[in-house]
Amino acid sequence: MSKEKLRVLMVEDNPTDALIAKKRLQRDDAFEYEVVHLVSGEDALLKLENWSYDIMLLDYNLPKKSGLETLKEIKARNIEIPIVMITGQGDEQVVATLIKEGAFDYLQKREGYEDSIPLMIRKTIAEFRAKSEREKLQKEIALRKEELEKINAQLKELDRMKSDFVANVAHELKTPLTIIKGNLDNIGQGFAGEVQPKQKEILGDVFNVINRLSRLINDLLDLSKIESGKMELNKESLDIVALAGEIVKTFETLAGAKNVGLVKEFPGNALNVNADKDKLTQVFINLMGNAIKFTDKGSVTVRIIDMQGEVEVEIQDTGPGIPQDQADKIFDKFVRVIAEKKEGTGLGLPIARDIIVLHKGRIRIESEAGKGSKFIFILPK
Ligand SMILES: Nc1ncnc2c1ncn2[C@@H]1O[C@H](COP(=O)(O)OP(=O)(O)OP(=O)(O)O)[C@@H](O)[C@H]1O
Ligand SMILES: [Mg+2]
Repeated sequence: MSKEKLRVLMVEDNPTDALIAKKRLQRDDAFEYEVVHLVSGEDALLKLENWSYDIMLLDYNLPKKSGLETLKEIKARNIEIPIVMITGQGDEQVVATLIKEGAFDYLQKREGYEDSIPLMIRKTIAEFRAKSEREKLQKEIALRKEELEKINAQLKELDRMKSDFVANVAHELKTPLTIIKGNLDNIGQGFAGEVQPKQKEILGDVFNVINRLSRLINDLLDLSKIESGKMELNKESLDIVALAGEIVKTFETLAGAKNVGLVKEFPGNALNVNADKDKLTQVFINLMGNAIKFTDKGSVTVRIIDMQGEVEVEIQDTGPGIPQDQADKIFDKFVRVIAEKKEGTGLGLPIARDIIVLHKGRIRIESEAGKGSKFIFILPK
């Protein structure tokens, strides 16, 4: 195998020392050495401007520009080369300065020191290369990190713009919709002349559509408020058992019309949580609304469990369930799995999740296709 060629820059004013060192390197077989020998720091600096070397052996005791000055200048010019200083005996106190100024290592000129030169070169080359590799990697990582941070900031800005846009559009739609609703209401009540039964029926259909539209607009406004961090919680100490009881009652007609049973499994005593009543009500409505909407036979059970420091609420149904691979996605906006035939937009669950998270709680689903779903949320007391 051919040996690697190593370019060595040797700065040594003593010709005998230089010759001994060169001879010793010729006998070493770790590398094929190409030694360029110079006698002054000035020459070395000139050479380094135009040529690159793998390693430099620099004598500390030079006649004009000293080894230390030469070293400092090389470092000031940011020339990438490992420098091994050759110091005289008794120069121990300068060694610390040399290392501080960027020398890679040093060798003391004493009887037979030339035998240490090949070893020192081998060790220095290996360490310098490893260090360069490490630095290159670190630079690359820092660069990537910077790029990612930039992209992240751009994405955040885009996301903010999108949320603002949605909020503005929803807000702009709200006013005309309220006016349409008011006018239709007036017509329906006969303020603009007598209304025929057929006309009343049509007006009823229009009302339903408008109500859906205004629910969607309110959902969009809520979500953009949460996403922009503008949703504030009016927390109070409230009894979640009583609140759940009231909400279950409001769903009795809807469930009864579908022949779906409503089961309450509540503890006998009150359970207080520190929560925003309106927002928590919305979570119950979204989860129970889903359970009843997607269940065509069987029952919906609302369960409240007192845990240490937390309250767990489960809303379990005997509906179609959600396949495992879809279950992670349904808390994302506009995701609908089996709902093609059911009314909705896919905003109920993301809103519920965001409200629970704002309360420092957790929400999850346990479901198996064909076996019903169980939505579970946990709130701190
Ligand atoms: N209890 C459930 N049983 C089966 N699938 C459900 C249940 N709850 C939610 N899903 C699935 O998750 C999807 C997302 O629910 P989400 O409440 O976010 O939207 P939606 O009910 O379709 O519309 P919206 O709530 O905006 O009126 C639903 O479309 C449905 O596919
Ligand atoms: Mg829903």
